[in-house]
Amino acid sequence: MSQRKKIIAANWKMYKDLAESNDFFTFFIENLQDTKAEILIAPSFTNLWHAFDATREYPIEIVAQNMHESEEGAFTGEVSAKMLKSIGIERVILGHSERREYFAETDRILSEKVRTALANEIKIIFCIGEKLEDRKDGDHFKLVESQLRNGLFHLNAKQWESVVIAYEPVWAIGTGETASPEQAQEMHQFIRKTIADKYSNEVSDNVSILYGGSVKPANAKDLFAQPDIDGALVGGASLEVESFIDIISAL
Ligand code: G3P
Repeated sequence: MSQRKKIIAANWKMYKDLAESNDFFTFFIENLQDTKAEILIAPSFTNLWHAFDATREYPIEIVAQNMHESEEGAFTGEVSAKMLKSIGIERVILGHSERREYFAETDRILSEKVRTALANEIKIIFCIGEKLEDRKDGDHFKLVESQLRNGLFHLNAKQWESVVIAYEPVWAIGTGETASPEQAQEMHQFIRKTIADKYSNEVSDNVSILYGGSVKPANAKDLFAQPDIDGALVGGASLEVESFIDIISAL
């Protein structure tokens, strides 16, 4: 019987200053309802400590949006796994398409970030997803499989207990063009089978696979009804506290 977790995660990207972040958490905590979902929220680095401190007594996990692959060094502007751990952060988003696109994070760099995170006992939300041209060319399964293999298939079975996958078709991110429940389910099922073929059914059955890409309160329920969709990684809609609460309630 699968023990995989249901997760609703928020990726705030480069939005909300400290006051806006504090206001969000004040309202969110006051209106938090019972849910079977694990709730993860990834503010920007400048808000991480305050968010962690404000939520330490609540069922809300604060997550980092990135980290460097080196343990420490002359990398101006970067943040290390050790620094994240020092403020209570125990999970990080890696491989987001915006990091791959705008910051040239290759599969190799991402595999190193994965190694460093796990070596520092930081869990991972690993993002994969095809571009529109990949899908139009019929290459979306091949692309997603290569991201999975190159980023994560160096891990052993035990290490997968610290990994959550987020499938985020690039063409659905920030566009309002959400993948249909059927499209998302088809790719989630493919991802789970690819993991099962490499490792085992036991490993793949216990990996939570989140969908990301224009998740809104209006479409969340139909997405979550799919057997291989274990929750969502939400961008824009997670910035509005009422929308984020509605998406959590849809699970
Ligand atoms: O990481 C989640 C994000 O990429 C999805 O963004 O605005 O389409 O929900 P959005």
